[in-house]
Amino acid sequence: MKGLILAGGAGTRLRPITHTSAKQLVPVANKPILFYGIEEMARADITDIAIIVGDTADEIREAVGDGSRFGVQVTYIPQAAPLGLAHCVLIAREFLADDDFVMYLGDNMLQQGVGDFVERFEKGRAAAAGEDSPVPVAQILLARVDDPRQFGVAEIDGGHVVRLVEKPTDPPSDLALVGVYLFGPTIHEAVRAIEPSGRGELEITDAIQWLIDQGHRIHHDVLDGWWIDTGKKDDLLHSNRLILETLESRIEGSVDDASTIEGRVVVESGAEIVGSRVRGPAIIGERTKVVNSFVGPFTSISRDCEVVDSELDHSVVLEESRILGIAGIADSLVGKQVEVTRSGRRPRALRLMLGDHSHVDLE
Ligand code: G1P
Repeated sequence: MKGLILAGGAGTRLRPITHTSAKQLVPVANKPILFYGIEEMARADITDIAIIVGDTADEIREAVGDGSRFGVQVTYIPQAAPLGLAHCVLIAREFLADDDFVMYLGDNMLQQGVGDFVERFEKGRAAAAGEDSPVPVAQILLARVDDPRQFGVAEIDGGHVVRLVEKPTDPPSDLALVGVYLFGPTIHEAVRAIEPSGRGELEITDAIQWLIDQGHRIHHDVLDGWWIDTGKKDDLLHSNRLILETLESRIEGSVDDASTIEGRVVVESGAEIVGSRVRGPAIIGERTKVVNSFVGPFTSISRDCEVVDSELDHSVVLEESRILGIAGIADSLVGKQVEVTRSGRRPRALRLMLGDHSHVDLE
């Protein structure tokens, strides 16, 4: 079993952050989203992985390297333009050869690992081959969602997937396609057979529909745990909250006597908490200084930041940013090397989405 991780997307829904950084590298609990997917694959013993990269290829290569730090081997496959998920399979043909593979969208996060899902597919294929019944050529993962119109949607009849539609205006069910798919080599015929969709992309949803139309068997699983497509600010903050829930306390930096730490908090090495209150779950990155401030629950502050005379919660702050004299920051995503300062009276609340290198002065 090989792994194919798609990290070519432009991340338009996370602008302005993604004007300067890859959406798959935006951190959740101070770890790039993409790393969670790679770690999941490593846990499932999938060690031969290709990552499809687009405009942000250099940044992704720099962050992931050859994969050895994850115990995997990474091959990079450049995609010249975002021509769709099925197009990624098309350009990965040589790497994938005739092996089964798991395809993982680099901006998806799920609570349960991919291990069980992979095992079920392999067992299903082996069992069907032994019994001389139709071998499943793909396995999809579904999740019940409130608004299926923004996803691929499955229609199930008699326990079988009978139809898949991409972003339907009138969804046939509330079962969305999660960005983790398992395929046997028959998918290569499908991605060659389909035409681009209305949005000009070769849709993997259409490729799977093609398999169904050809009479192939598709297995499906419905997810119990949470799943988030982290493409938008609120979804990203949501997954940050869910991951922080699982945090175990660890204090490696310094906390002075005038400070209090409540609940599950990570203070990374070189970080300094001075005259402040940190209420977890929260994580304070390496060399970050928190001075005379309150850092509230569900906050991830990256490395080399400065938070002085400020209050924030439910937020994600990227590296080397400075927040000086600002109270009431909540539900915010602050890019890298951002500076938020204030002169004059305190505002009551601030909800921010600030791209890298932003400069905000509240007067
Ligand atoms: C893609 C797929 C869609 C799937 C979703 C999951 O959508 O096309 O079927 O439900 O990922 O994240 P996109 O992110 O390209 O809009």
